[in-house]
Amino acid sequence: MEKKEIVIKTNNIVKKFGDRTVLNGVDLDIYRGETFVIMGGSGCGKSTLLRHMIGTLKPDDGKIYLLGKDITNLPEDEMDKIKKRIGMSFQGSALFDSMNVGENVSLPLREHTKLEESVIKIVMKMKLELVGLRGFEDLMPSQLSGGMKKRVGLARAIAMDPEIIFYDEPTAGLDPIVAGVIDKLIIDLSKKLSITSVVVTHDMESVFKIADKIAMLYEGRVVEVGTKEEMRNSKNQLVKQFIAGDPDGPIKFFQQKDDYLEQLTK
Ligand SMILES: Nc1ncnc2c1ncn2[C@@H]1O[C@H](COP(=O)(O)OP(=O)(O)O)[C@@H](O)[C@H]1O
Ligand SMILES: [Mg+2]
Repeated sequence: MEKKEIVIKTNNIVKKFGDRTVLNGVDLDIYRGETFVIMGGSGCGKSTLLRHMIGTLKPDDGKIYLLGKDITNLPEDEMDKIKKRIGMSFQGSALFDSMNVGENVSLPLREHTKLEESVIKIVMKMKLELVGLRGFEDLMPSQLSGGMKKRVGLARAIAMDPEIIFYDEPTAGLDPIVAGVIDKLIIDLSKKLSITSVVVTHDMESVFKIADKIAMLYEGRVVEVGTKEEMRNSKNQLVKQFIAGDPDGPIKFFQQKDDYLEQLTK
């Protein structure tokens, strides 16, 4: 059997913001080609973990390997080289409002390649076609719906043919149908382009549509990793409660201001 390649490895990552330990020893292995979902409640550290994986945050302890390289303390110029091999779809679409759709998608190609303008245009059109927005290049972001903006952001994220795409809450704030469109696109892109996808979300419907593997993050730790089936049948009370959306269980939500303030300084 072909040996599977680990493209992201986090080894005991610890991150503190002030007194607050947000990541408390995160261990994860993500393999090439899989769609890996990191789920967990708001504020549990999902975005923070993602930022460590793409090298924009440095851990207080632990190590991070991205595409075979130890990026824990990598100098910026070397990090920039690796960054060209990954794509990022941000929370919100992060488009430049003063640029049209085509210019937004072309931006990484203009910044990071020496391709001729005519070639950039062809690539840009191809990427828009892949996200179902053929012919939209002349529109301005302000003329687009939330879902369309997300898709343009995605076209930009795949402009450089990344090996990994990172998605932060790709379906947040979208209606169920548009969310379904985005989920389908995530699946399509990973299949068509054999991309590894890392998706951070608390949208359970989305999780069970797209994931090959799921990790649940809770209080800065990975409490369980498994396939959809394994997570559905998990005996872990935290996983069970989160998947069911049950207000009763070990996951606390705060009704008392003092309790809330106390956990902030934990
Ligand atoms: N740059 C920062 N400085 C201080 N606290 C931060 C910073 N970034 C995130 N946090 C805190 O870390 C916790 C986890 O945040 P985040 O990773 O954004 O959670 P999630 O994405 O799971 O909702 C939150 O309590 C947040 O307020
Ligand atoms: Mg977040």
